[in-house]
Amino acid sequence: MKRVKNVELTGELRRYMIEHGAVPDAVGHELIARTHALGEIAEMQIPPEQGSLLTLLTQLVDARLVVEVGTFTGYSTLCLARGMAPGGRVITCDVSSEWTDMAREAWQRAGVSDRIDLRLGPAAQTLMSLPHESGVDLAFIDADKIGYIDYWEQLVPRLRPGGLIVADNVFYGGAAADPEAKGNAAAIRAFNDHVTADARVEQVMLPIADGVTLARKIKTAPRRTP
Ligand SMILES: C[S@@+](CC[C@H](N)C(=O)[O-])C[C@H]1O[C@@H](n2cnc3c(N)ncnc32)[C@H](O)[C@@H]1O
Repeated sequence: MKRVKNVELTGELRRYMIEHGAVPDAVGHELIARTHALGEIAEMQIPPEQGSLLTLLTQLVDARLVVEVGTFTGYSTLCLARGMAPGGRVITCDVSSEWTDMAREAWQRAGVSDRIDLRLGPAAQTLMSLPHESGVDLAFIDADKIGYIDYWEQLVPRLRPGGLIVADNVFYGGAAADPEAKGNAAAIRAFNDHVTADARVEQVMLPIADGVTLARKIKTAPRRTP
């Protein structure tokens, strides 16, 4: 029988994983607790291991400009801002002033407010307002699933060559693999197919949290076949 090389992420193993590289700092810890107190909606927040990944990726691409679609209570924004060099900027988009008020407080306490530019309003409009030559180093997509393809199409031209798009929830709880998927799961399936067919990027899907796609904009134009 063919061996499948993967490991079930039990609660114990996940705790071990977090202890070895993803322990949130005091402000992150408090923000996670305050978000959990909101109830079921807290599920929207990325987990600490994904937060550490975002910080590391931001450092790896030496990000000066990050664009985030989906702020919520600001934990992912905090993780992105933590990875930025001084003078860097995170433009983060959301429609909710209620949730982002909590985010603003946490950013203030963490001392990263100066590098975060919160844009309230539909993300499609915010992205459209950014110049094409913005030179975005890293973008994180984590908002309404139906909008993912539009966000992607707005972001790829604004990304610098070698820049990275990180897309969240690409497994959609496992439903993305179901050909009969409906609603948000079907939107994520369409997005995943869209990314796979896009010759402007090279990408990998990671089984972290609810599935994360990393897509790097290729530096040279794809070679045309004669
Ligand atoms: C999954 S949550 C983001 C979670 C956040 N990245 C975190 O880790 O805490 C999705 C967010 O997208 C926002 N959102 C939904 N539709 C939007 C739209 N059309 N434009 C901008 N933001 C939107 C919601 O208000 C919500 O805060």
